[in-house]
Order: sequence, then C-alpha cells, then structure tokens
Amino acid sequence: MDVLVLGGAGQVGTELRALAWPAGVSVHAPGRAELDITDARAVAAELAARDYRVVINTAAYTAVDKAEADVVAAWRLNALAPAILAAATAETSIPLVHVSTDYVFAGSKPDGAYAPDDPIDPQSVYGASKAAGELAVRTGNPRHAIVRTAWVVSPHRGNFVKTMLRLSAERDALTVVDDQYGCPTSAADLAAALATIARRLATDADAPTGTFHCVNAGATTWCGFAEAIVAGSARRGGRPVPVNGIPTSAYPTPARRPANSRLSTDSLTAAYGLAPRPWQAALDDILDRLVGPVSEGVSKP
Ligand SMILES: NC(=O)c1ccc[n+]([C@@H]2O[C@H](COP(=O)([O-])OP(=O)(O)OC[C@H]3O[C@@H](n4cnc5c(N)ncnc54)[C@H](OP(=O)(O)O)[C@@H]3O)[C@@H](O)[C@H]2O)c1
Repeated sequence: MDVLVLGGAGQVGTELRALAWPAGVSVHAPGRAELDITDARAVAAELAARDYRVVINTAAYTAVDKAEADVVAAWRLNALAPAILAAATAETSIPLVHVSTDYVFAGSKPDGAYAPDDPIDPQSVYGASKAAGELAVRTGNPRHAIVRTAWVVSPHRGNFVKTMLRLSAERDALTVVDDQYGCPTSAADLAAALATIARRLATDADAPTGTFHCVNAGATTWCGFAEAIVAGSARRGGRPVPVNGIPTSAYPTPARRPANSRLSTDSLTAAYGLAPRPWQAALDDILDRLVGPVSEGVSKP
C-alpha cells in the first residue's frame, strides 16, 4: 500500500517517516522542492505516479506571528493547498487525512475542552487560514479526516521544548505566559495516530470520517509546560533555573492566541479507539532524545 505524506520534513512529517509502518506499506514523502502542494498540476502528477491509497497532509504555514504580515503566503499554503489536495484526492477516490489546529477556536470557552463540533472563531491569520483549509477539505472530499492538534513538540526543527532548553542554558531565569491553557502534543504520538486513521481510511470503506481532535492527555499553561521542561532537563543534568509566570498582556505578540485551547479527544477515542497518553510521559521521551537519559541517582517523578 502506497501512502503519500506531505510536509515530510516538518515535525509531524519527520515522525511519520520514522514510524514503524506494517509490512507492505510504502511511505513516500517528497519534500517541498520535489512537490509544491500549492501547484495543482504537480499534485495531480504525483497522485498519478503511484497507486496511492491515502494522502496525509502535514504541510502548513506554521509561523503564527509571521503570518499576520504574510497573509497571502499563509492562505496559499493553509487554504489553497488543502483545496487542491481535496479536489485531487476526490478525483482519484483517495481518502485525505489533513492536520489542523486548536487556533481555529477563539479560546473564550470558560472551562473544559473544545469538542470538534464546537463553533470555530479564529483570532489570527494563521487560525483563519487553517479554518479555510478545513472547509476546503470538508467540502472537497467526503472521504476525509481533519485532525486538529495543538502545541506540537518533538526533537526536530524549532519548537517550544527546544526553545526552553536553549534559554534555560543561557539565562538565570525564564519568564513565560501563564494564562493560556492548552494540550502539549508529541509529534511522534500524533504521527502514530495519523497513521492508524490513514490505514483505516485506506482499507475500510466504513472507517469514520469527519473532524477529530488528537492531543496528548492533560492540559497546562505555557508556564507549566516550561516548568516541566526545565525540571525534566534538570533530572538529566541540565540547569534548574526558576520559571516565572507572566500574563499574556505582558508579552504582546503580533498574533492573538486563544486563552483556552484545550481539545477533547473523546470522539477520536470513540471512532478509532485511540487514547493518547499524558503529555508528561511524551515529554520525557523527547527529553531523553534531546538531553539524554535521566541522570543516575535522580529518580523520575
Ligand atoms: N507546530 C505546532 O505547534 C502545531 C500546533 C497545532 C497544529 N499544527 C499543525 O500540525 C501540522 C504539522 O505541523 P508541524 O509542526 O509538523 O509543521 P512544520 O514543522 O512547520 O512543517 C511544515 C512542513 O510543510 C512544508 N511545506 C511548506 N510549504 C510547502 C509547500 N508549498 N509544499 C510542500 N510542503 C511545504 C515545510 O517544508 P520545508 O521543510 O521545506 O520548510 C515543512 O516540512 C500543520 O498542519 C500545523 O498547522 C501544528
């Protein structure tokens, strides 16, 4: 079975390529230089080149703040490209698994996690362009799974874990926003879930379609996440610097971010039997890879 992964050099794409796929599955992950997914002709040619059974799109314009001033580029990749992919996969009767974001929500839900059918209300160019991409997939190919995720981290590329590790080595204290709540998510855990969904869609005409949420279990603030990263690094020999919380108002950014972007994975569990593990366990795996194993004489929490 041939599987086409788009965005294969990104955080999630890298983990999809590294995954132990079952025998008989061939993963093809052309980079941006080989396949520009905003080019409809190139996408059609790629789909014609092999007998693909499913497409997983992880490619996106993910620079949330930069997108505020780079509107056309963000919409080309996050809205136009999904429309091209939805049309091309529908044309060839291939299911499409498309990754989206918690930033489609306003974040004003007073408590609790967002369910997939809660009303969206993006507050940023990135969020709006991703919401448009969702609509394009939903209307363009009925055999789709839109998988919203959040706060994605991994040993690859730039992400919050790597930034906190770098800053904790350079500074005597960190200041991090402590009034935005969300669900840290391992790119590796997300990739494993995407692979399960993709294989089901490729092989089972009755596999559930629609919009799902996939994040690691539990929630925290950026500050709580930073504290866990610094503590985990310290258990592995890193510097145990203090982490001080500040309100969002003290750290202005070009893009508005949701105050609460917790996502409920209940419908993912019901549809696909997937129950992601706690974010702390996923973080430990990433720190093992980035920093090293827990130092001798220091016990895990
Ligand atoms: N990162 C997060 O915290 C987060 C949170 C919520 C949702 N998400 C969603 O999760 C998905 C994966 O995110 P990620 O963190 O893995 O993203 P990422 O690391 O930024 O990777 C994005 C990939 O898209 C590729 N790409 C860019 N333009 C392209 C084009 N025209 N044609 C083909 N490929 C192109 C990039 O190629 P290059 O390698 O050449 O740059 C890169 O490999 C995205 O849908 C994102 O919106 C991410």
